[in-house]
Amino acid sequence: MLESNYFHYINKSLHCDKLELAELAGRYGTPLYVTSERSLLESYKAFEQAFEALPHFTCYSVKANYNLSVISTFAQLGCGCDVNSGGELYRALQAGVAPEKIIFAGVGKKSEEIAYSLSVGVLMLKAESLSELRVINKVAGDLGKVASVALRINPNVTAETHPYITTGDSKEKFGIDEAELTEVFSFFSQLPNLRLIGLDMHIGSQIFDPEYYVAATEKLLALFNLSKTMGFSLEFLDIGGGFPVTYDPRKIATPIECFAEKLIPMLQPAGVTVIFEPGRYLVANASVLLTKILYKKRNHAGKEFFVVDAGMTELIRPALYQSHHEVQAVTWHDDTVVADVVGPICESSDFFARQREIDAADEGEFLAVMSCGAYAAVMSSNYNGRLRPAEVMVNGSEAKLVRKRETLEQLVQNELL
Ligand code: LLP
Repeated sequence: MLESNYFHYINKSLHCDKLELAELAGRYGTPLYVTSERSLLESYKAFEQAFEALPHFTCYSVKANYNLSVISTFAQLGCGCDVNSGGELYRALQAGVAPEKIIFAGVGKKSEEIAYSLSVGVLMLKAESLSELRVINKVAGDLGKVASVALRINPNVTAETHPYITTGDSKEKFGIDEAELTEVFSFFSQLPNLRLIGLDMHIGSQIFDPEYYVAATEKLLALFNLSKTMGFSLEFLDIGGGFPVTYDPRKIATPIECFAEKLIPMLQPAGVTVIFEPGRYLVANASVLLTKILYKKRNHAGKEFFVVDAGMTELIRPALYQSHHEVQAVTWHDDTVVADVVGPICESSDFFARQREIDAADEGEFLAVMSCGAYAAVMSSNYNGRLRPAEVMVNGSEAKLVRKRETLEQLVQNELL
């Protein structure tokens, strides 16, 4: 069971902060994402405290959860944003993030997106290849601007995590090989519309062992020294995101302080501003996905199924990465059963839990799928004609709707007959 200060049972009823989840499910319907605003604030505070001793700038990686109210919660605390597309940039701006606090990443930026980011005046673009540098130079020249860029390097460090979310390995598409860097640095003399201001990396996501960061940071620092010998004086070193969270109480995430302890002494002597891009760390455990048990059924082999009204369209992580999410009955039961919790989608991979011991809840009751703040709503889809759920943010005993449930009309609004 993954109880926290923000999701906890009071009198056998699961609450978010001071509100009963069963009451929220009744009020807003299901499926429903419920986010604890206090959890967002506390995670950001914990991150900032851990890295306090280091001159740094935290840019929330909005891909994890780009609801405008989530972005704005962080922006109001002074946090910047890491965006990965023109769409995410638009969202960050709509949420009120100042352009000079936005950094623009992405292995395949289109010229239109580059032009958009330069015209609004983002802090930097993170470039991933020589070809991209040429394009940014051209677009900046056409706009009469000088673009600030950082180079994303591929440190060739294979962090132990799910293979789909490791990004710092030379097999992957991300970043520029360290071996190419001398050539890339020299190339800047031919790029009059670019100003190189930093080096960047991101080695993957949900990384439990700080040693991977240490290994990659050593490489980043060596390249930083190389940049100095080649006449650059960079202002930023960007370490990326990837800091872990606990999804499964049997696998507790390494505390953020352990990463800070290793990284601060390594990075401090560089005398630059260090950028961090946490996504999951700030949001994953701030939300749950509430879903209703539609049917319970048992097959000929005696296997139990809880068929619920949310599925892989609202949380694809178990299907895509075999990831574990705790599932808890919103009303506590003293009895448990071993069951599969499955959704209504016509795919066998549409499950939240398999052969899991869960509360013996009845049809019509609600379950909470835990740790759904990161890479859940943002990866939702309309597959099977599904409507994207509503999203609610809770603070104390107040709940506010931060995204309306999609309607049938919205489902077809862009189609022409
Ligand atoms: N910076 C860059 C350049 C990234 O590509 C990412 C995540 C982050 C920062 C934030 O990483 P985080 O702190 O959230 O680990 N959908 C997958 C995760 C994909 C991560 C993609 N990049 C999942 O559900 O596990």
